[in-house]
Amino acid sequence: MENINIDKQRHVSNEIEMPLQNGFSNDFDESSVKKYSFLKGSIPRLRDGDPDVDRLISANKPVVITDSKLVQSAKDWNLEYLEKNMGNGKNFVFQSDTRKFMYHDEKRVTQWPGFRRPTRRYEMKFSNFVEMLQMGRERLYLQQTLNDTVGPNMVRDFVKFRWEWCTRYQRLCRWGDLTSNLLLVGMEGNITPGHFDEQENFFAQILGYKQCILFPPDQFECLYPFPVSHPCDRQSQVDFDNPDFTRFPKFQHVKAIEAIVGPGDVLYIPMYWWHNIESLRSSTQSNTFSHEVPPSVTVSVNFWYKAAAIPDRIERPLKANHKVAVMRNIEKMLTEVVGDPEEIGNMLKTITEGRYDHQQQISYDTYHQS
Ligand code: OGA
Ligand code: ZN
Repeated sequence: MENINIDKQRHVSNEIEMPLQNGFSNDFDESSVKKYSFLKGSIPRLRDGDPDVDRLISANKPVVITDSKLVQSAKDWNLEYLEKNMGNGKNFVFQSDTRKFMYHDEKRVTQWPGFRRPTRRYEMKFSNFVEMLQMGRERLYLQQTLNDTVGPNMVRDFVKFRWEWCTRYQRLCRWGDLTSNLLLVGMEGNITPGHFDEQENFFAQILGYKQCILFPPDQFECLYPFPVSHPCDRQSQVDFDNPDFTRFPKFQHVKAIEAIVGPGDVLYIPMYWWHNIESLRSSTQSNTFSHEVPPSVTVSVNFWYKAAAIPDRIERPLKANHKVAVMRNIEKMLTEVVGDPEEIGNMLKTITEGRYDHQQQISYDTYHQS
């Protein structure tokens, strides 16, 4: 095993250089920011304490909070620090043959004959991950839930997260428990393709920049998620860079908003909001792989919370997020009874075809006159 010579490493402190209004340097390469035609606006960027932050989060609307200091204690978490302090526990590291890292559920892989894994998952010590990054042969993305195997310095940093800040929102919005904090250490250019999660998420950026593209839950029909029983449940089937409009015609009408998050930013990703996240190229970290210079990575930690309890009285018309929940439950019930996805598709078509179209429908009032 080769040791990295730490003295030779060119580490860019995100504290000292070029502080901007948010206190961090703006060192991503503009040309690595994707410009999709479906991007229609920006996610608001607000300072912590702005009353609109509370309003947006309470209304399940995304917002970037710029100086919450939520993970200020983790400001030193670069590759070198993580290698020293992550401990000897094993970490999940994904390898992809493309820049995309589509999530898939390992447990469902065998139930879908012909399914080819979009990524391979390895378990390795952090030091092995760094070694593999140094070799520069593969595209890798470490995604590991923070646990008690991390070293004492990281435990200290973790304890110093501004927990009271997120707990306040947890209470305000009646979210359930914090379920996990996922640590994401990715190579620049890595993409987590469009998907939604079934939890509330405070996504805290620590090192490097990410372009976060969000679609509201009412865009469900434009984004064509895989069937609920598929290993890629909750992921869009559409390749955003090369969309197949014949299979996915409504993707032509999809609308998204975006934010670029950097060190110190926290993005609130509401449950059921679709997100596509790309690690941007840095202009100051190294972007060549050599043994003298550490490879540039992005580091994020998210805070996943269980959803608020379903209200006793559901307001009509249903909101898009409630509709998604109901549709998923119907699909899950059918999956349990019927199994075969093709048959499920046929049954769902039979339920609706020629029956719920407005033009042909005799209005309820007309039908009941006599
Ligand atoms: C998330 C997520 C992906 C990424 O935090 O929910 O999808 O690449 N993150 O940061
Ligand atoms: Zn996600």
